[in-house]
Amino acid sequence: MRKNLYQRESNTLAEDKLTVKKLEFNHRKNKEQDHTELLDSSAKAFNYSDCKDEYWNPEKFSLLYGTPLWDEASKTERVLLNQIYWVAYYSQIISAEIATIFYNQTASAGLYGLEDFRLVCETLDFESMQERAHIDAFKNISEQFEEEVFGERIFTYPMRPYYWETMIFQKTNMLKRFWKSIQLQSYALLSSNNAFIGCQYLTVRGLRTLNGKIVQHQLSKYFTDHEDKENAPIPSKVSYYHFMDESYHFNSSNIIGSDIIKNLAPPTAFESFIANLGIRGTLKDHSNFNISVNGIFWYEPAIYETLFKLLQSSAFNFKQADALQMLKRCFTQENQGITEAFETQQTALESYRNYLSNIEYVSKSNKLGGAMVNTSIENYLAENRRQFFEFERKKNVA
Ligand SMILES: [Fe+2]
Ligand SMILES: [Fe+2]
Repeated sequence: MRKNLYQRESNTLAEDKLTVKKLEFNHRKNKEQDHTELLDSSAKAFNYSDCKDEYWNPEKFSLLYGTPLWDEASKTERVLLNQIYWVAYYSQIISAEIATIFYNQTASAGLYGLEDFRLVCETLDFESMQERAHIDAFKNISEQFEEEVFGERIFTYPMRPYYWETMIFQKTNMLKRFWKSIQLQSYALLSSNNAFIGCQYLTVRGLRTLNGKIVQHQLSKYFTDHEDKENAPIPSKVSYYHFMDESYHFNSSNIIGSDIIKNLAPPTAFESFIANLGIRGTLKDHSNFNISVNGIFWYEPAIYETLFKLLQSSAFNFKQADALQMLKRCFTQENQGITEAFETQQTALESYRNYLSNIEYVSKSNKLGGAMVNTSIENYLAENRRQFFEFERKKNVA
């Protein structure tokens, strides 16, 4: 067949038939099984009183599971801790998806100028549309829950810009937050103007989604194992529908970040540097683990204040001194929750190493797991104790 004279580039996507096929298949399947309507109608139908007495996740996905608080909680409190896990977990997912929507668009812009990249861009456009529905569903349910249970926000927040710290509980301060926002905005600018960085964003996205995929698969099991699916709690249905959509997103991250990137010219030293910086940042973000919401990599001391408020709310009714004592027992002494949350982080580390092992431009230290290799239970406890001492001192003075 005569080669189209106007396809000047030596490596066009159309010539990489296997990758095109994989991407086409994934995009088509995602469109066929799209859960947007189901998510929209579920969020609309959500009424807290209909499912307030039931778990929304498998039991071990409960706030502070495996800690003294969980061990001593009544049956009703355990149900609440299970539901709060859902709200807290998906509030974090909202933050990540706000950034995803934005970077999907800048990556599409960066790639659109290349031959045959329409399919990649349409895949990303479609996924952004789905993310908006995901955010909507999580937000509707979480806000209604907090309004009815606490009468105020605990884990939810109003919509925020993409360049805010993605981890809603992070070790940070004003200067670091400002610096992070500059980095995130610069990355957006670079990725919208550079096909390699645009493509490489999908490697970072894939990395970020990996742990999500492991946890969300387990969360979706509450619905898949439910005996009466039709009447299962709506939040558990949302977990399942979301996991279904996300499995396609994970595939496309893989195809774009690992296969399509090979069709581009090898990265310059600058491009490699930026790409490794993005990966290093993600590994750093995931170097914390927490027992409040096992499955997310929050910096525990940043949650003290929120949990202190939560325990004193009418839902749990702790006196101030008892709340402090309880948090101290949960966060500064070894318990089952700590062992399990550390295991989650180690599983993530293993899967990240696997994922990065075959990507050429990735630096050796990133391939080993970056800052995640320094995480340990000893360090976690030492940091918690140091910060709790300060926290307690301030509360006792106040
Ligand atoms: Fe999503
Ligand atoms: Fe997604």
